[in-house]
Amino acid sequence: MYDFEYYAPTKVEFGKGSESKLAMLLSEQGCKKVLLHYGGGSAERSGLLAVVRSAMLEAGCSWVELGGVQPNPRLSLVYRGIELCRAEGVDFILAVGGGSVIDSAKAIGYGLKDDGDVWDFYEGTRRPTACMPVGVVLTIAAAGSEMSNSSVITKEAEGGDLKRSCNSNYARPRFAVMNPELTFTLPDYQTACGCTDILMHTMERYFTSGGNMELTDALAEGLMRTVIANARVLKNKPHDYDARAEVMWASSLSHNGLTGCGNNGGDWAVHGIEHELGGLYDVAHGAGLAAVWTAWAYYVYKDCLARFYKFAVQVMGVRPCGTRQEIAREGIDAFNAFLKEIGMPTTLTELGVNPTAEQYKLMAERCAATGNGKKGSAKILYADDIERILRNAK
Ligand code: NZQ
Ligand code: ZN
Repeated sequence: MYDFEYYAPTKVEFGKGSESKLAMLLSEQGCKKVLLHYGGGSAERSGLLAVVRSAMLEAGCSWVELGGVQPNPRLSLVYRGIELCRAEGVDFILAVGGGSVIDSAKAIGYGLKDDGDVWDFYEGTRRPTACMPVGVVLTIAAAGSEMSNSSVITKEAEGGDLKRSCNSNYARPRFAVMNPELTFTLPDYQTACGCTDILMHTMERYFTSGGNMELTDALAEGLMRTVIANARVLKNKPHDYDARAEVMWASSLSHNGLTGCGNNGGDWAVHGIEHELGGLYDVAHGAGLAAVWTAWAYYVYKDCLARFYKFAVQVMGVRPCGTRQEIAREGIDAFNAFLKEIGMPTTLTELGVNPTAEQYKLMAERCAATGNGKKGSAKILYADDIERILRNAK
C-alpha cells in the first residue's frame, strides 16, 4: 500500500429537489456577485436556470451570465469568462451543467486569480496558486468534476485542437447540488457516455502495476458492479430514479480520489489517448474512451495479469475456470460486450473517426509527450505503443 492524501472538501446536497438548497448554499459562501455559467441550452429548456435565478435572488446575490459552453469546453470562452468576471467584479462562479461547464468554470476561476495566461496551467508550464470559488448544480452523471481536482480544456489551434487537463485542489468545488431527477432529460447516448466515463475513472485507478488496498479494491469493484448494473437498467428505463441516483453518486465517488487510495496513482493511458481524440475530432469523452479501451486492454493485460484476472472474476462475474490469461481475456471480452450493449462504440470506426497515418503518429506523440515520453502503469507505453493501440482500435 502506498501513502496517500485524500481531500474531498465539497459539500454535497443530494436527492430529489435538492436545488431548493441552493439559496442557502450561496448564502453560506457569502458571495455578492455570481457568474452563472451554463451550456448549450438544456438547462434553460428544462426550467432549471429559472430555479437557479430565483435562488440567487433569494440569497441576495447579483449575477452575470455566460452560457454556450460546449462539450470539450473551449479556451476562447474561458478567456471571455475571465474578462467578463473582471469587468463585473465577480466573486463566485456557479456552474450549472456537466463536466464541460464545471471545467470551464474552474478554468475561469484559475484565470481570475492569476495575471498570466491561464493556458500555461493546462500546458503544464506553470502551476496554479489559487482559484475563484466554484459551486455546481449537476445535470449529468459522468465526469465527476463536481468533486474532482481536475479541469479539462480544449485550445483551438491550427492543425488540430489540443485538449489538456490541469489538476489542483484549489479547483475542487465548494458545493455540489445533485438531484438525479435533473438527469432524466439526458439523451440515451449521453447517459451511456457518462456511465462509461464513471467506470473508466475507477478502472484507470484499478489497473496499475503497483500497490493495492483490500478496502480500496472492494470499494472500486462494488462501484464498477453498481454502475454496470444500473447502466443496464437505464437503457430500458431512463426515468428510473434509483438507477439515476446510483449512477450520479458513483460519478462523484469514482473521481474524487476514493477509489485510488493506496495505489500508485493509476494508469490513465486510456484517458490520455482519448484527450488526443477529443482534441482532433471533438468526440464525446465517454465514447472516445469506449472506442480505445478494448485495444488498450488487449495490449497491456499480460503485464498486469493479476489485476485483469481480479477484474474478470470480481466485476464481470467470469467463472475462474481456465488459465489466468484466458480468464483475463474473458473479462475484457465481457466488458467489451457491455459497452456494445449500452450503445457505445468499441472501435474508432464505430466512433466515426478515420485517422490518416500522420494523425495516428501525431496523436501518439502528443499523448506520450504529456507524460514526458511515456504513459501508463499497467504497462509503460511509449509513442510507438500508443500508435499501435490506436491502430489496433481501428
Ligand atoms: O450543453 P447542454 O445543452 O447543457 O447539453 C449537454 C451536452 O450536450 C448535455 N446535457 C447535460 N445535462 C443534460 C444534458 N442534456 C439534457 N439533459 C440534461 N440534464 O450533455 C452533453 C454533454 O455535456 P458535458 O458537460 O460535455 O458532459 P460530461 O459531464 O461528460 O463532460 C465531459 C467533459 O468533461 C471532461 C471531458 O474530457 C469533457 O471535456 N472531463 C472532466 C473531468 C474532470 N474535470 O474531472 C474528468 C473526465 O475524465 C473528463 O476528461
Ligand atoms: Zn473521464
